[in-house]
Amino acid sequence: MSRTVYVNGEYLPESEAKVSIFDRGFLFADGVYEVTSVLDGKLIDFEGHAARLQRSLGELDMATPVTMDELLEIHRELVARNGIEEGLIYLQITRGAAADRDFAYPPEDTPPTIVLFTQSKPGLAESPAAKTGIKVISIEDQRWGRRDIKTVQLLYPSMGKMIAKAAGCDDAWMVEDGHVTEGTSNNAYIVKDGTIVTRHLGTEILHGITRAAVLRVAREAQMKVEERPFTIEEAKAADEAFITSASSFVMPVVEIDGEAVGSGTPGPVAARLREVYLDEMRKAAI
Ligand code: PDD
Repeated sequence: MSRTVYVNGEYLPESEAKVSIFDRGFLFADGVYEVTSVLDGKLIDFEGHAARLQRSLGELDMATPVTMDELLEIHRELVARNGIEEGLIYLQITRGAAADRDFAYPPEDTPPTIVLFTQSKPGLAESPAAKTGIKVISIEDQRWGRRDIKTVQLLYPSMGKMIAKAAGCDDAWMVEDGHVTEGTSNNAYIVKDGTIVTRHLGTEILHGITRAAVLRVAREAQMKVEERPFTIEEAKAADEAFITSASSFVMPVVEIDGEAVGSGTPGPVAARLREVYLDEMRKAAI
């Protein structure tokens, strides 16, 4: 079935949606994005995603083409028009289409491009992978230095996923200066003696919206949290490991570079966090 998508103010069948070949998102990866999950037909942590979007746009001196209220309406309209019960909404805003290819930014009155589409994913919350856990491989982090901005420059993460796939793994954890930064499209965590460890915020990682919520619920549940760098060796020797993202929520990691983490099966901390996170976020969904 053809989806209804949103492009620059219009709801259109996906086959009729178009952007210019001069769009700076296409030519320079000059754009930012957000992925928001949908459960029970409602948006999970929309406010968090809207706030990060505004921050990403601000860091790149990019105009915001819609108000956050309008953005919420567009999200809801797409969920309704496409009958999404469980799935994702992808949003991308670029610096728009200049008249030609030019490294310099186009004039300030150039309208930004805004595109949104839905991805229906029945069973997203009941993912079988959450029961079995995933396997990761470690790779060098070769991305640019402003990973806190959610740009559409995703070639290295795509390469990382392919390296992982070729090694029979599900994802890659990226390592810089001997320490894990994050997964290719998720934040990375280990658990040792009951303490949850995840890298501190900075320009080296994306400030995950799921990360913020998971750390909040962990602290509310009196779990100990340390925000600091950790090594792959430390991760392999941990009791548990897991990742978080809007599309995977809390997902256990059971193997790193071919070595089992803990018992090699999903651990109790990740399972509890997943349950509490999903429970709280469903209640707060809008
Ligand atoms: N990825 N780190 C990176 C590099 C990411 O791309 C993402 C999200 C995260 C987790 O952020 P959040 O919890 O806000 O989803 C961390 C999205 C899901 C994607 O690219 O599909």
